[in-house]
Amino acid sequence: MTPELTQRQLLEELEPAVAKELDRHLAIAKEWMPHEYVPWTEGRNFPGVFEDGVPWDVTQSKVSDTARTALVVNLLTEDNLPSYHREIYQSFGPEGAWGTWIGRWTAEEGRHGMAIRDYLLTSRAVDPDALERERIAHMTQGFQSPYELDMLHTVAYVSFQELATRISHRNTGKYTEDPFADQLLARISVDENLHMVFYRNLMAAALDVAPDQAVVAVRDVVQSFEMPGSTIEGFTRRSLKIAMAGIYDLRIHRDEVLSPVMRHWKLFELEGLSPEAEQAREQLGTFLEQLESRAARFEEKRAAQQARRAARQQ
Ligand SMILES: [Fe+2]
Ligand SMILES: [Fe+2]
Repeated sequence: MTPELTQRQLLEELEPAVAKELDRHLAIAKEWMPHEYVPWTEGRNFPGVFEDGVPWDVTQSKVSDTARTALVVNLLTEDNLPSYHREIYQSFGPEGAWGTWIGRWTAEEGRHGMAIRDYLLTSRAVDPDALERERIAHMTQGFQSPYELDMLHTVAYVSFQELATRISHRNTGKYTEDPFADQLLARISVDENLHMVFYRNLMAAALDVAPDQAVVAVRDVVQSFEMPGSTIEGFTRRSLKIAMAGIYDLRIHRDEVLSPVMRHWKLFELEGLSPEAEQAREQLGTFLEQLESRAARFEEKRAAQQARRAARQQ
């Protein structure tokens, strides 16, 4: 059992780990230019200011309705960056390597929304007026973390969330069957992967410094995990569509997000935990088992629905 550390003590204890991960990140992150991924010559003016403007029409979109849904959800999620910046700033603070990381991470995240929007507007993949109205609504609402001012919970959450975002972008890109979207979203996924590695390694250091508190934080975050875009209007309906398409579903969430990160932490092999942390770990195990059966049930339902659809089309 280790004595409980305060927020201040944890921030100080983990500062060297943040500095190390920041150096590693800066050494391996390759510079890239978002504008190079945008098909500018495909673009045309929109009406309003320009006399030659052509209004948007769904027939101009080369991607399917489901691909449009995924692209819009991914973009609105990226758009809410000011809220995420505020949340991590509040729980990490501006000092030392923590502050430098927040700045760098924010700058990298900033190009994701810009580049996806540029692509969507030049390729006319989605309704630009509806997109702008949704952006205003979603950003006005903002994003509030349930773990405000709590660094450990925040780091645990973003370890999973960055990986979830990586997979969601990657699979959306493939699903569009548009090589421009695919290339751009694959490049963004590389950023998201490095973000995940940063937070995952930092959480590994936290599991060393304060294992009992860190395990409890992981339990809390895993049990109540929601995507950062969950407050987007119609998110339940839209995320079901995304899950039906296999872009992001419970199986992916369990097997490609939660499990590999926890395996990396060797969470189920930690020894000498406090009774409370031991109990939290057992609850995690139970949760993952339940998630397994929920994922299997969803896969069965999806397969049945796809079979019905195929039969109708014959
Ligand atoms: Fe991003
Ligand atoms: Fe990210």
